[in-house]
Amino acid sequence: MLRLDGAAALAGWRRGPAAAGRVGFVPTMGALHAGHGALVERAAAECDAVLVSVFVNPLQFDEASDFERYPRVADQDCRLLEGWGASAAYLPAHRDVYPEGAPRQLEPGPGGRLYEGLHRPGHFAGMLTVVHRLFEQVRPQRAYFGQKDAQQLFLVRELARGLSWPLEVVACDTVREADGLALSSRNRHLSADDRPQAATLHRALLQAQRDFASGQRDPAALEAAMRRVYAEAGVEVEYAAVVDDATFLPPSARSGRWRAVTAARVGGTRLIDNLALGAC
Ligand code: PAJ
Repeated sequence: MLRLDGAAALAGWRRGPAAAGRVGFVPTMGALHAGHGALVERAAAECDAVLVSVFVNPLQFDEASDFERYPRVADQDCRLLEGWGASAAYLPAHRDVYPEGAPRQLEPGPGGRLYEGLHRPGHFAGMLTVVHRLFEQVRPQRAYFGQKDAQQLFLVRELARGLSWPLEVVACDTVREADGLALSSRNRHLSADDRPQAATLHRALLQAQRDFASGQRDPAALEAAMRRVYAEAGVEVEYAAVVDDATFLPPSARSGRWRAVTAARVGGTRLIDNLALGAC
């Protein structure tokens, strides 16, 4: 697997024979785990070449301490990527992504203003800005994103529709631990005491899924059921809500597919998760 250490190396690779066919792109912030692995392996199965970017994007962190303690383990990431079948890893420096220093940022539409958008001011503007920049540099035919970050995926689909070339955004299922905890680079901050508590997010989502399957369509009732699961576990919930999957806004009478979304703090670590509830 090739290591592309800057924008010039990436541009050379992109023009060369190794990237002549269908290029699949997997943007990441590193500290890779099996959730990232599922995206890379799927891209490797579906594309002629797979490029994975590893860049901890300062613009999308709403808390400086979160940015500073975000794990940075590039050598370990490259070993994992090789095993998953990536063709090349793009490891840009800040100036490769933002040559102008402080870029003008893209703002999300209405679907990016609630939930993560509300609780992490500036997060989605920073995320869209870096993803757009990386898309422009890589110009892939396909890009792979995880359902784990469902609101991000929703916004990236919107972004892709405005590009000047056809880009297919592929959604990949969330990879979980045996107890339901979604894999995340932040899980390594969980202490041994926190770890069982962290599965509460998934349990709350499963409760919403069961209630929805039994016919419950009142968003407030679904939210209250999720909050009860948190209260019983003594976990501090940030939000627990149901959304229309097509808009990422609260469901209406016309909503088709519903999704439950949640964020909570376990110990000092903020975790998010979501689950499709089904169609009405
Ligand atoms: P990061 O958190 O590293 O995630 C990179 C990709 O892996 C995202 O598409 C995310 O949804 C996916 N992913 C993470 N955990 C997953 C899991 N348990 N199962 C399946 N997929 C999972 O998301 C970002 O980075 C950044 O915002 C980025 C898009 C790279 C822009 O900086």
